[in-house]
Amino acid sequence: MQKTFTIGTKTFTLDEAKAEAAFAAKKVINGRQVPYFNLLPLKYQWAYDLYKKMKANHWEPEDIPMGKDIEQWRDAKVVSDQERWIIRMGIGYFSAAEGIVGDNVQHVVREIVTAPELKLCLGRHAHEENIHADSLLYMISSLGINPHECEAMFEDVKSITKKNEFVNRASQALRRDLDMTQPVNKRLFAKNVFIFGQCMEGTQFYGLFGMVLSLYRQNKFPGIGQMFRYTLRDESNHIELFRNLFMDLIEENREIWTDDFKEELRMTMREAVDLEKEFIRDCLPLNAVGLAIDEFVTYIDFIADRRLEDCGLAPLTPGVKNPLPWLAEMMDIKKEQNFFEGRVTEYQKSSALPTASDDDL
Ligand SMILES: [Fe+2]
Ligand SMILES: [Fe+2]
Repeated sequence: MQKTFTIGTKTFTLDEAKAEAAFAAKKVINGRQVPYFNLLPLKYQWAYDLYKKMKANHWEPEDIPMGKDIEQWRDAKVVSDQERWIIRMGIGYFSAAEGIVGDNVQHVVREIVTAPELKLCLGRHAHEENIHADSLLYMISSLGINPHECEAMFEDVKSITKKNEFVNRASQALRRDLDMTQPVNKRLFAKNVFIFGQCMEGTQFYGLFGMVLSLYRQNKFPGIGQMFRYTLRDESNHIELFRNLFMDLIEENREIWTDDFKEELRMTMREAVDLEKEFIRDCLPLNAVGLAIDEFVTYIDFIADRRLEDCGLAPLTPGVKNPLPWLAEMMDIKKEQNFFEGRVTEYQKSSALPTASDDDL
């Protein structure tokens, strides 16, 4: 029997029995592998919707004017050496971090997951990391920064090296031909997804985001600030993608969700938080750029607990309040429809969210 499915403005006709068999065989891991990209019937609707949403947020670095930033960069009366150092270090850290995340998405996570709609969304995620890397190149070239100076930050700032080692360990552990039906390997994968989505993109990116946005709030480096806000909007989708992936993986593999494993993940977040606090203290040796160190460190506790709770895990600092409410406002760019009057609206023209009209999809 034939059945009609509608996704957005498109209609598809599928053989019902085959569609049901394909649906049942779809899994986050260990699903049926076929040589064609069988998105239909969609099982992980959220992944397809998120893919559309990510595309609707498309931006290009060159659309953001850098004239004011260039002027300020050259004027010692406007910005201090420490503020310039934060920008250089931010560019250096993110240049490496975007690469590490993109590589893990493409060569670990996208390789291991089996459902095509998950691979579709992960492909867009990897592309966005490329856009972010490209935006850093645009900042470097606009300001005339020597890229080697940014790279040197890795030797100067030991806490950056430690942060990178922390995530690379989780990625390297899966770069082997592992039997993903074994609980031990399923846990390795779940831990990787948790570390990259919740600990790194979800918590460890927020130290620098906060510092750069604090400068932006003082009208310093408006072009760089705008790019970081757009990057942050993308990151919130990456965090959501990895959270959904994590939750569905656990749902389909309940045997790995033990109390020991939950505690292991909480302690992994504890390590991530400690590394981030060390990094903040390295970068802000004195209260500077309009940020009080104590408040900023508490903000990391606050955000880490939100990530844990969103994954069904107990917080590390129960009851902690957000000490920097302006940062949340700054990060929520949906409120400002005219925040960036560039080509974004043009990119969005063909990106309306689809609506599934058939319950079987
Ligand atoms: Fe990124
Ligand atoms: Fe990301």
